Amino acid sequence: MAVGTAPGKVILLGEHAVVYGQPAIAVPVAQVQATAIVEDAPAGTGITVFAADLGRRFRLSEGQARSRAAAALARTVRNTLERLGRTADLDLEITVSSTIPIGSGLGSGAAVATAVVRALVQHLGGYLTSREVSDLVYQTELLHHGTPSGIDNTVIAFGKPVYFIKDRCDEVFWPGRPFWLAIGDTGIPSSTREVVADVRKGWEQDRASYDAHFAAIGALVARAREALIRGDLHELGQLMVANQEELRAIGVSSEALDRLIAAAMDAGALGAKLSGSGRGGNMIALVDEATRDAVAAALQRAGARSVIVTRVS
Ligand code: MEV
Repeated sequence: MAVGTAPGKVILLGEHAVVYGQPAIAVPVAQVQATAIVEDAPAGTGITVFAADLGRRFRLSEGQARSRAAAALARTVRNTLERLGRTADLDLEITVSSTIPIGSGLGSGAAVATAVVRALVQHLGGYLTSREVSDLVYQTELLHHGTPSGIDNTVIAFGKPVYFIKDRCDEVFWPGRPFWLAIGDTGIPSSTREVVADVRKGWEQDRASYDAHFAAIGALVARAREALIRGDLHELGQLMVANQEELRAIGVSSEALDRLIAAAMDAGALGAKLSGSGRGGNMIALVDEATRDAVAAALQRAGARSVIVTRVS
């Protein structure tokens, strides 16, 4: 039996613009995680996947026909076996579970796929680097999201803060000073695929204005990388606020996100913004040890369905 796990993630700055070649920064969130267990199954039973949270079981051979989630799991298993030089002619039971809310911007799809890759590699006695795991999970992300930038699979497979530019750079880095994030969930599910597609429609209709917003976001991210390395959390907070203004301008914020962001700022957060694709899902607030409890309580009072406080170092 082998167990693979993977953390959730939040995007600190740069979502959406990252799909268009701008940099973005993301950090892992260890408080939530996906787990996959791979065990040998009786001879002749083939590969079965059991999605424990959903209470659903399917054979690998029928995964494609079930749902997008089942197809994504089936693709992850097939690609991993192929990468390891194995055929799907094995008898395995793969059990998948996750504490990462689906459709919340915390990277549940990429984390589940990463956990499955890791458990399979371990069970079959292979070895893959974090980059190879990330590349395999990217293939699954294509099915989930259509045109993913690749940032989710990268931060989740590396399990460290990353500065990321699509197809050009994925740099793991260490903040000059640890910091805290309060992550507030609007409780409104959001489809990354749909929001990314809507932004693309907007961009196709008015490229000049969207490109200007994306470039402005890219410049904020570059400054945020420097501020993070210096440990200047006040500047980081201001850059997050400016990033949120740009996200609002491209139409991916919402009344629920704006309400939680305002509550966090009123309670003393250094900065706050939506995180991930937006519309629903999660927002993040930059806090320190003195403000984190007050900000978490304010988020709850403002209607957050759940609040996670995580330390990034
Ligand atoms: C989703 O976590 C982040 C987006 O920028 C999409 C992507 O990067 O693929 C909205």
